[in-house]
Amino acid sequence: MNNKYRFLRRDSYVVDLGSAPGGFAAAVAKTVKLDDRARRWDQEGKRLVKRRITGRRRSRPFGKLVCVDVVDMAEIGGASFIRGSLMDDDVEHRIGYALNGDEADVVLCDAAPSTTGNSEMDHIRCVDMAKAGLGVANAVLRNGGVFVVKVFRVRKKRNWLRL
Ligand SMILES: C[S@@+](CC[C@H](N)C(=O)[O-])C[C@H]1O[C@@H](n2cnc3c(N)ncnc32)[C@H](O)[C@@H]1O
Repeated sequence: MNNKYRFLRRDSYVVDLGSAPGGFAAAVAKTVKLDDRARRWDQEGKRLVKRRITGRRRSRPFGKLVCVDVVDMAEIGGASFIRGSLMDDDVEHRIGYALNGDEADVVLCDAAPSTTGNSEMDHIRCVDMAKAGLGVANAVLRNGGVFVVKVFRVRKKRNWLRL
């Protein structure tokens, strides 16, 4: 997808919601240059000190990748992992802390609830998750940042297009 839309740069700050087992994150780490001297796995959230980025930002030596999931995933050097739900009240603060108070350039959301077998119900739960992801993206993305969300469609359902 990045080959087509070019939303990732080598210094991008990326948040990956629903990151386990790590397929998207591994793909991001191929483009975004992470500082793997920093070990930030399983860090605990602290208070967010939010710095607004105004105008066009200067290029940075490294990007950042913050992964969020309710289950563990394999470690990716230089990335942060927050074990928790994207629906947790403090998730935005924990992401902000992992980004050192900076804003994200890109938020990916592939979080999906476990399926029930009822496709209508699964679709509704999936859209709810996507909406929660959009809420997180609104809080942590910079102006002009990119939100990418994956939602499974079920027959005749188009309401996910109106997030
Ligand atoms: C389709 S998998 C993601 C695959 C991942 N993007 C990859 O490329 O490897 C969906 C993930 O969403 C996670 N998930 C489900 N509910 C979640 C929630 N409330 N908050 C964060 N992650 C959640 C699941 O644990 C699961 O790992």
